[in-house]
Formats: sequence, structure tokens, C-alpha cells
Amino acid sequence: MYCFRKVTDALYWVGANDRRLELFENIFPLRDGVSYNSYLLMDEKTVLFDAADYAVGRQFLENVQAVLGGRTLDYLVVNHMEPDHCAMIGDLVLRYPDMKLIGNAKTFPMISQFFDFDLEGKMVTVKEGDTFSTGKHTLHFVMAPMVHWPEVMMTYDETDKVLFSADGFGSFKALNGGIFNDEVDFDRDWLDEARRYYTNIVGKYGMQVQNVLKKAASLDIQIICPLHGVIWRNNLDYIIGKYDIWSKYEPEEKGVMIAYASMYGNTENMAEVFAMMLSEAGVKNICMHNISKTHVSELISDSFKYSHIVLAAPTYNNGIYPLMDNFLEDMKALALKNRTVAVLGNGSWAPQSTKLITSKLGEMKGMTVLDGAVTVKSSLKDAQMEELKSLSRQIAQEVL
Ligand code: FEO
Repeated sequence: MYCFRKVTDALYWVGANDRRLELFENIFPLRDGVSYNSYLLMDEKTVLFDAADYAVGRQFLENVQAVLGGRTLDYLVVNHMEPDHCAMIGDLVLRYPDMKLIGNAKTFPMISQFFDFDLEGKMVTVKEGDTFSTGKHTLHFVMAPMVHWPEVMMTYDETDKVLFSADGFGSFKALNGGIFNDEVDFDRDWLDEARRYYTNIVGKYGMQVQNVLKKAASLDIQIICPLHGVIWRNNLDYIIGKYDIWSKYEPEEKGVMIAYASMYGNTENMAEVFAMMLSEAGVKNICMHNISKTHVSELISDSFKYSHIVLAAPTYNNGIYPLMDNFLEDMKALALKNRTVAVLGNGSWAPQSTKLITSKLGEMKGMTVLDGAVTVKSSLKDAQMEELKSLSRQIAQEVL
């Protein structure tokens, strides 16, 4: 059965949810699924904005057909060519052979890479600032290269003031009936997944996001329709503000994330003691992660969220404990910057982790590693409690 909703008088959400997928991109765990949003504009011409993932293909096609109500599909705007949105293009071409595809110069080579159908006579190539009339509606194209693929563009419907924002302003998490931001408790139920989505998928491209935000500022946007997650139809400054902070790599909150790795509990014990010292020094906003039980995407999300990070890990094969090393590599790949970090290390005969973690942080931009990193041999002893306390006081002074 079809399952769609009206967004405006002429625009319909025709996407679908996937609550079966374990790992988005075969990497990121999906606790609460994901939605693949697609939108159908019923004007003098019918225009679909992006397709959907193959996994939800049947529902998606049924939704499109139901909203079309016997009309044909005239245009598909391809804002993004990643397969979670483009996979169904081939099926759309089969169903609607007269459909034309609207994309930019980088879109069509990618379509030919992913598909074998003949593009001859089907392409409408647009560039920055071009407009396209569908009848009552005028579409205006805004290029958004590397947010987070090179062909990405956004489409602005000047008539209804709707921005089709591709992955921008998207989120992990399936839509549970409510498809608009004002139909959910976003802070309670969505913000963490929106941050995890942004930081892990788009996080590396902060500068490009800033460029798009500047372009968007010149448009009168009333509704934002992203390819994942809720549609924003009020309080737009809230989500635009979050994107501004995240893409500038500014912390969202003053607080401390403690991420520790521990093989037998001794480094964990040091992290626990340190957390209590922080609390006794007055820090209230502390979160702790055992990185062996926390997916690295959660660690990345919280490292973007908090102003201060404590990394604690043992030495392993004369290097950094592998899961901590992976976390650091991910931080580097996603270009996290401008955080203050305290390092706690451990090693039973040749402790190296403090030095190696500090060195890897030095490869990232704007990371301040606090003096007084603490290295223990096997386990924390009374003699080192004062060192630890001194480090916790430095953090407390900055956070409070
Ligand atoms: Fe949701 Fe970049 O694809």
C-alpha cells in the first residue's frame, strides 16, 4: 500500500524508511533505521526530487505512482548520485521512459558509471543559478560541491520557498509517522543522530558546508527538505545554527568527553578516577565511553560535541591500542580541529601510548594537548594521584 504525505499543496513526500539495515554504508550502525526521502512536485509538469535506495524500492515506486494518479513522471532532479538516493533511477527510467533527468555537468558522467541506460535525449544540464519552470513553480539550482560528493547540488523552489538540500540537514533515524520537525521532539529524539550523521558523513567538508550556508543565506527559505530525516518547516535557525557550529568545528557544549581503552581494567580505573576528580572540581558535563564497546561514529559525534576530550589508552604492540588508533585516524580523516585534549597512557614495560597519541594529535589542526599528560606503568598508584589531579584542575578551569 502507498504511504506518502503532503508537504505543501503541490509537494508530496514519497520516500520510505529502512528499519532492517544494520549498517549504513556498511559502516555505521543504525539503532533506529534511516529514511530515504524523495519528493514529488505536482505542477503542470511532474517533478521528482531524487529517488531512493534499492532496499525500499517497492514502497518508493508505489508512492510515486499513487501521487502521480495516472499522470506520467516528466522530470527527475538528481541532486545527489550516492546509491542510497540514486539506486532507483534505472527503474524509474524503465517505468517512465519519457522522463528527463535534471542534473549538472558532474551528475551525468556518474549516472553513466552506475547505469547502462542511454542518456541521449534525456539530459537537462543545469549550472549554478540556472532556473527551470515547471508551470507555477520556478526551480533554482545551487551547486554544493563536496557536500559531500562532487556532483551534489541543492534545488530551491522559488514559488513555495522550499530548499531540497540533498544530504544537508539530514539525519540517521527512520521517520516514525511524523515527517516534520514540529511533529517530533527533535532535541530529545533526533539531535544525537543528526549530529552523528553530519559529523561522520559530511564532517570532513566543513569549509564546503560553510560555502553553501552562505549561499543559502541569500534565499528566503521557508521549508528544508533533506534526503534523510525530518523536513524543517519552522525554527529553521535552529538546525542552520547547528550546521554552522558543526561545520566550523566549534564545540556545541563546554564539557568533557572521556574516551578510554582498557584491556584489563587498569586504564579504565585511571579514567574513572579522573572523571571523579573532574566532578569534584565542579565539572558537570562529563560523558564517558569505553571505546571497545562504543562505535567509532558515536565517538566522532561526541568529539565534535564537547570542548574538551580526554583520551586514555594502553600501549599495544609498542604502538597505540588499535581501537584508539582507529578513533584518532577517524578524527584526523574527518578534520576535527580546535579541541583541548588531555592524554592518559599506560604500559607495563615500555609505555609508549601517551607519546604516540600526543604525536598523532599533533597531525591535526588546532588541537591543544594539555601539559602534564600522565603515564602509568600497569596501574595507577598513590604517587601519581597529584599529577592526575593537576591535569583535571586545568580542564576544570577552562570548562567552568
Ligand atoms: Fe544520503 Fe550521500 O547519501
